[in-house]
This record gives sequence, structure tokens and C-alpha cells, in this order.
Amino acid sequence: MSVHKDIKRITTHTLQEFKEEGTKIAMLTAYDFSMAGLIDAAGIDVILVGDSASNVMAGHETTLPITLDQMIYHASSVVRGVSRALVVVDLPFGSYQGNSRLALESAIRIMKESGAHAVKMEGGSEIRESIERILTAGIPVMGHLGLTPQSIYKFGTYNVRAKEEAEAQKLIEDAMVLEKSGCFSIVVEKIPATLAKKVSETLVIPVIGIGAGPDVDGQVLVSHDMLGINKEFRPRFVRRYQELADLIHNAVAQYISDIKNKDFPNTKEMY
Ligand code: KIV
Repeated sequence: MSVHKDIKRITTHTLQEFKEEGTKIAMLTAYDFSMAGLIDAAGIDVILVGDSASNVMAGHETTLPITLDQMIYHASSVVRGVSRALVVVDLPFGSYQGNSRLALESAIRIMKESGAHAVKMEGGSEIRESIERILTAGIPVMGHLGLTPQSIYKFGTYNVRAKEEAEAQKLIEDAMVLEKSGCFSIVVEKIPATLAKKVSETLVIPVIGIGAGPDVDGQVLVSHDMLGINKEFRPRFVRRYQELADLIHNAVAQYISDIKNKDFPNTKEMY
């Protein structure tokens, strides 16, 4: 297993090298200082400050409500906890769509106020102008195609995308547009594994999958899902590496019981 823990700092160039040498990229989300520090210390390559913070941190049903200020707060907390991973931050809904000038302003605020290393944006050819404008400021951009949760009300469901030929073809074309525009990588979410493989083989830049099968250049999951903090959310593509919800429940129940039974604090736990 190649974890490349010797690398001092992961950059967009490191990820390109990983693709070229066939080393898979490992990416997870984080939204706060403590979790980011733990994930970074374990050797993760990329930390995504995802707008999934809207769901898992704030309890919203969709990613739409989270604001640019809130994303910057999460991102600056994560950056303070990280010494090795590349930190990528989602541009939230309403901070870039349909307005390349606004997109540039939003991306600059994220970079300046959080200290993150790159931004991620959902969409294909329709956001090309925004991507190119952000790149003029020297800000690396990661794309995101397939299931793009900021467009949930257009799709109507969180089902697998691009199962039909026409949508699959459009996704490949969009992926090529993103690469030509200068994106350093793209995420493909919840698309058939055969299509994801084709995208990865077509593009020179790394393609990172979530619910997109094994034949891509890396994988990303929401940390709360793979650690079992969200008990109810169990889609097929999430592998649970822990059941933290149960561990936390048991620890808290024990704490309550110790207090009620006058067992905590004991003589060694006081001054
Ligand atoms: O916001 C997020 O967590 C994401 C991942 C699901 C890729 O965009």
C-alpha cells in the first residue's frame, strides 16, 4: 500500500503525479479543526470542506441554504487543523452560478479569508466562464459532475445520474470542457461505474468518484457517513469504517450513569 506519508504537502501537482503513477487519491470531507486534524494525521490526500456541511453540520435537508460566510468559517477552521492535505472548499449555491464576476469574488474571499488551497464548483459547460475567470486569479478549480446536489430541485431525486446515453454523452463532453478550461481535477458523483471509467480514461486530470465505482483515480466520501455518525443515511456506495454514533451514544450514557450514581468525579478526578 502506498500512502506517501513522506510527502510534506499535497498540491494539485502531486495529485496529477498520483494519476500518472497509478496511485489512487484518498479524499474525505471535514468541516472543523479537530476532525480535519485527525483525518490529516491519518494521511488523507485531499480534505474537502463540502457544502454537505449544510446537511451534516447544520441539519438542513439540502446543500442550498449554506452561505459563503458559513463556508469560510468551516474552511478556516479546517485549514488551522491541517498540515499535509490539500484543502478544497465548495463554492456554495448562489455564490457563482450565472455570474462569473461574482464567482471570482466568492473564490477570492474563500482563498483570502480561509487560507484554503482550491475551490470546487458544480456544473459543466454552463459554468465555463466562471471557471476561467477564477483561474485568471491563480485559484485552482476542481469540477463536480453527475449528481450535483445544488441542482436537486432540477433533478427531483438523488438517484443515479447519466444512466441514459444522451446524459452520459453530455457528461463526457462536460468533463472535457472542464479539463480544457483548466480544472485540476473533477469529482463524479453517483454515475454508472462504466461511465466513470470512461471519463477517467478520457481525461488527463484526476477523476475522483463518489458512488462511481473503482475505475477512477480516487475516491471521496463524506466523513460523517463513513464513520457512522449519520445512523440513517446508508446508501450502497458508503462503506462504514466505524459506528461512531453507537460509540458516542454508549459513552454519553455511561457518563450520565456515572453522574447519577455519584461515581464521577472520584477522588483522583478533583483538586
Ligand atoms: O459537499 C460534499 O460533501 C461533496 C462530496 C459529496 C463530493 O461535494
